Amino acid sequence: MSKHDSAWVSEFLASRRTTRDFQSTPVPEELLHQILTDALTAPSWSNTRPFKVAIATGETRDRISKEFGARWDAVSKSLRGGIMGKIKLIVTRYGLPTSNRLISKPYAAELKPRAMKLGAGLYGVFGVSRSDKVQRDQWWAKNYNFYGAPTELFIYIHKSLHIFAASDAGLMMENLALSAHAHGLGTCMQGAVAIWDDVVRNEFEISKDYRLLCGIAIGYPTDSPVNSFQAHRIDVEEMLLKKKN
Ligand SMILES: Cc1cc2nc3c(=O)[nH]c(=O)nc-3n(C[C@H](O)[C@H](O)[C@H](O)COP(=O)(O)O)c2cc1C
Repeated sequence: MSKHDSAWVSEFLASRRTTRDFQSTPVPEELLHQILTDALTAPSWSNTRPFKVAIATGETRDRISKEFGARWDAVSKSLRGGIMGKIKLIVTRYGLPTSNRLISKPYAAELKPRAMKLGAGLYGVFGVSRSDKVQRDQWWAKNYNFYGAPTELFIYIHKSLHIFAASDAGLMMENLALSAHAHGLGTCMQGAVAIWDDVVRNEFEISKDYRLLCGIAIGYPTDSPVNSFQAHRIDVEEMLLKKKN
Protein backbone atom coordinates (compact mmCIF):
# COMPACT_ATOMS: atom_id res chain seq x y z
CA MET A 1 0.00 0.00 0.00
CA SER A 2 1.25 3.48 -0.85
CA LYS A 3 1.31 6.45 1.56
CA HIS A 4 -1.62 7.84 -0.34
CA ASP A 5 -3.65 4.73 0.49
CA SER A 6 -2.98 5.02 4.24
CA ALA A 7 -4.15 8.65 4.27
CA TRP A 8 -7.24 7.55 2.37
CA VAL A 9 -7.91 4.82 4.94
CA SER A 10 -7.70 7.34 7.82
CA GLU A 11 -10.08 9.65 6.00
CA PHE A 12 -12.46 6.80 5.17
CA LEU A 13 -12.52 5.54 8.77
CA ALA A 14 -13.23 9.04 10.08
CA SER A 15 -16.01 9.53 7.56
CA ARG A 16 -18.17 6.67 8.90
CA ARG A 17 -20.88 8.04 11.13
CA THR A 18 -23.98 6.46 12.60
CA THR A 19 -27.10 6.78 10.42
CA ARG A 20 -30.35 7.51 12.29
CA ASP A 21 -32.68 8.18 9.38
CA PHE A 22 -33.05 5.64 6.57
CA GLN A 23 -34.83 5.44 3.22
CA SER A 24 -37.24 2.51 2.95
CA THR A 25 -35.44 1.27 -0.21
CA PRO A 26 -34.57 -2.41 0.38
CA VAL A 27 -30.94 -3.50 0.56
CA PRO A 28 -30.31 -5.94 -2.34
CA GLU A 29 -29.63 -9.46 -1.04
CA GLU A 30 -26.35 -9.84 -2.97
CA LEU A 31 -25.08 -6.57 -1.54
CA LEU A 32 -25.92 -7.61 2.01
CA HIS A 33 -24.18 -10.91 1.37
CA GLN A 34 -21.05 -9.08 0.18
CA ILE A 35 -21.10 -6.86 3.29
CA LEU A 36 -21.45 -9.90 5.55
CA THR A 37 -18.58 -11.59 3.68
CA ASP A 38 -16.43 -8.49 4.33
CA ALA A 39 -17.52 -8.54 7.99
CA LEU A 40 -16.13 -12.06 8.32
CA THR A 41 -12.60 -10.93 7.42
CA ALA A 42 -12.25 -9.58 10.99
CA PRO A 43 -9.93 -11.38 13.43
CA SER A 44 -11.51 -13.82 15.86
CA TRP A 45 -10.58 -15.72 19.05
CA SER A 46 -9.02 -19.02 17.78
CA ASN A 47 -11.01 -18.30 14.63
CA THR A 48 -14.12 -19.56 16.41
CA ARG A 49 -16.43 -16.79 15.11
CA PRO A 50 -18.63 -17.08 18.21
CA PHE A 51 -21.60 -15.19 16.81
CA LYS A 52 -24.73 -15.60 14.68
CA VAL A 53 -26.72 -13.02 12.76
CA ALA A 54 -30.52 -12.93 12.27
CA ILE A 55 -31.54 -10.86 9.24
CA ALA A 56 -34.97 -9.26 9.70
CA THR A 57 -36.58 -7.82 6.57
CA GLY A 58 -40.11 -7.40 5.22
CA GLU A 59 -42.93 -8.78 7.37
CA THR A 60 -40.54 -10.27 9.93
CA ARG A 61 -38.90 -6.89 10.44
CA ASP A 62 -42.29 -5.21 10.70
CA ARG A 63 -43.66 -7.71 13.24
CA ILE A 64 -40.59 -7.33 15.47
CA SER A 65 -40.70 -3.54 15.18
CA LYS A 66 -44.42 -3.49 16.02
CA GLU A 67 -43.97 -5.57 19.16
CA PHE A 68 -40.91 -3.55 20.25
CA GLY A 69 -42.87 -0.33 19.67
CA ALA A 70 -45.83 -1.57 21.72
CA ARG A 71 -43.57 -2.60 24.59
CA TRP A 72 -41.69 0.70 24.60
CA ASP A 73 -44.99 2.59 24.51
CA ALA A 74 -46.26 0.61 27.51
CA VAL A 75 -43.06 1.15 29.50
CA SER A 76 -42.68 4.86 28.76
CA LYS A 77 -46.36 5.57 29.54
CA SER A 78 -46.17 3.58 32.80
CA LEU A 79 -42.98 5.32 33.93
CA ARG A 80 -44.56 8.70 33.27
CA GLY A 81 -47.80 7.67 34.94
CA GLY A 82 -46.72 8.25 38.54
CA ILE A 83 -47.05 5.58 41.19
CA MET A 84 -50.12 3.97 39.55
CA GLY A 85 -48.21 3.65 36.27
CA LYS A 86 -45.30 1.98 38.02
CA ILE A 87 -47.59 -0.41 39.86
CA LYS A 88 -49.24 -1.34 36.55
CA LEU A 89 -45.81 -2.05 35.06
CA ILE A 90 -44.84 -4.28 37.99
CA VAL A 91 -48.14 -6.17 37.83
CA THR A 92 -48.37 -6.65 34.04
CA ARG A 93 -44.58 -6.76 33.48
CA TYR A 94 -45.40 -5.97 29.84
CA GLY A 95 -42.48 -4.07 28.33
CA LEU A 96 -39.95 -4.81 31.07
CA PRO A 97 -36.63 -6.07 29.68
CA THR A 98 -36.52 -9.82 29.07
CA SER A 99 -32.77 -9.68 28.33
CA ASN A 100 -29.83 -7.28 28.85
CA ARG A 101 -31.14 -5.42 31.88
CA LEU A 102 -27.86 -3.47 31.98
CA ILE A 103 -29.36 -0.87 29.67
CA SER A 104 -31.57 0.55 32.43
CA LYS A 105 -28.64 1.00 34.84
CA PRO A 106 -26.94 4.41 35.18
CA TYR A 107 -23.52 5.01 33.59
CA ALA A 108 -20.38 4.92 35.75
CA ALA A 109 -19.27 8.43 36.75
CA GLU A 110 -16.21 8.28 34.47
CA LEU A 111 -18.29 7.48 31.38
CA LYS A 112 -21.44 9.45 32.10
CA PRO A 113 -20.23 12.88 30.81
CA ARG A 114 -19.47 11.37 27.38
CA ALA A 115 -22.90 9.75 27.14
CA MET A 116 -24.54 12.99 28.26
CA LYS A 117 -22.61 14.98 25.67
CA LEU A 118 -23.85 12.60 22.99
CA GLY A 119 -27.44 12.83 24.26
CA ALA A 120 -27.36 16.63 24.31
CA GLY A 121 -25.92 16.76 20.78
CA LEU A 122 -28.49 14.33 19.41
CA TYR A 123 -31.43 16.03 21.15
CA GLY A 124 -30.17 19.26 19.57
CA VAL A 125 -30.33 17.95 15.99
CA PHE A 126 -33.60 16.14 16.59
CA GLY A 127 -35.02 19.34 18.10
CA VAL A 128 -35.87 17.60 21.37
CA SER A 129 -35.93 19.58 24.59
CA ARG A 130 -33.97 17.78 27.34
CA SER A 131 -36.61 18.56 29.92
CA ASP A 132 -39.44 17.16 27.78
CA LYS A 133 -39.66 13.50 28.76
CA VAL A 134 -42.46 12.80 26.25
CA GLN A 135 -40.37 14.11 23.36
CA ARG A 136 -37.32 12.22 24.60
CA ASP A 137 -39.31 8.99 24.79
CA GLN A 138 -40.70 9.58 21.28
CA TRP A 139 -37.18 10.09 20.01
CA TRP A 140 -35.99 6.88 21.68
CA ALA A 141 -38.99 5.07 20.15
CA LYS A 142 -37.40 5.62 16.73
CA ASN A 143 -34.91 2.94 17.75
CA TYR A 144 -37.80 0.48 17.67
CA ASN A 145 -38.68 1.37 14.11
CA PHE A 146 -34.98 0.86 13.41
CA TYR A 147 -34.89 4.52 12.33
CA GLY A 148 -36.83 3.49 9.23
CA ALA A 149 -34.20 1.00 8.01
CA PRO A 150 -35.62 -1.80 5.83
CA THR A 151 -33.28 -4.35 7.43
CA GLU A 152 -32.37 -5.02 11.03
CA LEU A 153 -29.57 -7.44 11.89
CA PHE A 154 -29.66 -9.06 15.32
CA ILE A 155 -26.22 -10.07 16.58
CA TYR A 156 -26.07 -13.10 18.88
CA ILE A 157 -22.93 -14.22 20.70
CA HIS A 158 -21.96 -17.62 22.09
CA LYS A 159 -22.25 -17.50 25.89
CA SER A 160 -19.24 -19.80 26.48
CA LEU A 161 -16.63 -17.23 25.41
CA HIS A 162 -18.01 -14.45 27.64
CA ILE A 163 -16.43 -11.04 26.88
CA PHE A 164 -14.33 -12.47 24.08
CA ALA A 165 -17.42 -13.39 22.12
CA ALA A 166 -18.61 -9.77 22.41
CA SER A 167 -15.16 -8.56 21.40
CA ASP A 168 -15.18 -10.82 18.31
CA ALA A 169 -18.69 -9.70 17.39
CA GLY A 170 -17.61 -6.07 17.77
CA LEU A 171 -14.73 -6.56 15.37
CA MET A 172 -17.06 -8.22 12.87
CA MET A 173 -19.64 -5.45 13.32
CA GLU A 174 -17.15 -2.68 12.63
CA ASN A 175 -15.99 -4.41 9.44
CA LEU A 176 -19.64 -4.72 8.50
CA ALA A 177 -20.28 -1.01 9.14
CA LEU A 178 -17.22 0.02 7.12
CA SER A 179 -18.10 -2.24 4.20
CA ALA A 180 -21.66 -0.88 4.26
CA HIS A 181 -20.26 2.67 4.30
CA ALA A 182 -18.03 1.87 1.32
CA HIS A 183 -21.13 0.69 -0.57
CA GLY A 184 -23.07 3.89 0.18
CA LEU A 185 -25.15 2.35 2.96
CA GLY A 186 -25.52 3.57 6.53
CA THR A 187 -25.66 1.61 9.78
CA CYS A 188 -26.78 2.19 13.34
CA MET A 189 -25.67 -0.23 16.02
CA GLN A 190 -28.51 -0.57 18.51
CA GLY A 191 -28.09 -1.62 22.11
CA ALA A 192 -31.67 -0.40 22.49
CA VAL A 193 -33.03 -3.55 20.86
CA ALA A 194 -31.13 -6.01 23.08
CA ILE A 195 -33.72 -5.86 25.86
CA TRP A 196 -36.46 -8.02 24.34
CA ASP A 197 -34.63 -11.07 23.02
CA ASP A 198 -37.85 -13.17 23.27
CA VAL A 199 -39.39 -11.19 20.39
CA VAL A 200 -36.52 -12.08 18.05
CA ARG A 201 -36.53 -15.71 19.23
CA ASN A 202 -40.19 -15.95 18.22
CA GLU A 203 -39.11 -15.35 14.62
CA PHE A 204 -35.79 -17.22 14.29
CA GLU A 205 -34.30 -20.57 15.38
CA ILE A 206 -31.80 -19.50 18.04
CA SER A 207 -29.98 -21.92 20.35
CA LYS A 208 -29.98 -21.26 24.11
CA ASP A 209 -26.17 -21.17 23.84
CA TYR A 210 -26.46 -17.74 22.27
CA ARG A 211 -27.47 -14.41 23.76
CA LEU A 212 -28.46 -11.21 22.05
CA LEU A 213 -25.70 -8.59 21.98
CA CYS A 214 -27.31 -5.81 19.93
CA GLY A 215 -28.95 -4.94 16.64
CA ILE A 216 -27.66 -3.17 13.54
CA ALA A 217 -30.02 -1.12 11.39
CA ILE A 218 -28.77 -1.07 7.81
CA GLY A 219 -30.01 0.73 4.71
CA TYR A 220 -29.62 3.79 2.53
CA PRO A 221 -29.31 7.05 4.50
CA THR A 222 -31.69 9.95 3.85
CA ASP A 223 -30.25 13.47 3.63
CA SER A 224 -31.68 14.34 7.08
CA PRO A 225 -29.33 16.59 9.11
CA VAL A 226 -29.35 13.92 11.82
CA ASN A 227 -27.17 11.78 9.57
CA SER A 228 -24.50 14.52 9.50
CA PHE A 229 -24.31 14.65 13.28
CA GLN A 230 -20.67 14.44 14.34
CA ALA A 231 -20.39 12.63 17.66
CA HIS A 232 -17.49 13.86 19.76
CA ARG A 233 -14.22 11.87 19.60
CA ILE A 234 -11.99 11.64 22.65
CA ASP A 235 -8.26 12.38 22.20
CA VAL A 236 -5.76 9.55 22.10
CA GLU A 237 -4.22 10.92 25.34
CA GLU A 238 -7.53 10.43 27.13
CA MET A 239 -7.47 6.75 26.20
CA LEU A 240 -3.89 6.10 27.33
CA LEU A 241 -3.00 4.76 30.76
CA LYS A 242 -0.37 6.65 32.74
CA LYS A 243 2.81 4.89 33.78
CA LYS A 244 3.35 4.39 37.49
CA ASN A 245 6.12 6.65 38.86
C1 LIG B 1 -22.79 -1.50 20.90
C2 LIG B 1 -23.39 -0.18 20.44
C3 LIG B 1 -24.72 0.08 20.75
C4 LIG B 1 -25.32 1.27 20.30
N1 LIG B 1 -26.65 1.49 20.58
C5 LIG B 1 -27.27 2.57 20.04
C6 LIG B 1 -28.69 2.71 20.16
O1 LIG B 1 -29.36 1.89 20.79
N2 LIG B 1 -29.27 3.76 19.56
C7 LIG B 1 -28.56 4.69 18.86
O2 LIG B 1 -29.15 5.63 18.31
N3 LIG B 1 -27.21 4.58 18.71
C8 LIG B 1 -26.55 3.54 19.26
N4 LIG B 1 -25.19 3.36 19.08
C9 LIG B 1 -24.44 4.33 18.28
C10 LIG B 1 -23.52 5.20 19.14
O3 LIG B 1 -24.28 6.16 19.83
C11 LIG B 1 -22.47 5.86 18.22
O4 LIG B 1 -21.67 4.86 17.64
C12 LIG B 1 -21.58 6.83 18.98
O5 LIG B 1 -22.33 7.92 19.45
C13 LIG B 1 -20.44 7.37 18.09
O6 LIG B 1 -20.97 8.01 16.95
P1 LIG B 1 -20.61 7.54 15.46
O7 LIG B 1 -20.99 6.10 15.31
O8 LIG B 1 -21.42 8.44 14.58
O9 LIG B 1 -19.13 7.73 15.28
C14 LIG B 1 -24.55 2.22 19.56
C15 LIG B 1 -23.21 1.93 19.28
C16 LIG B 1 -22.64 0.75 19.70
C17 LIG B 1 -21.19 0.46 19.37
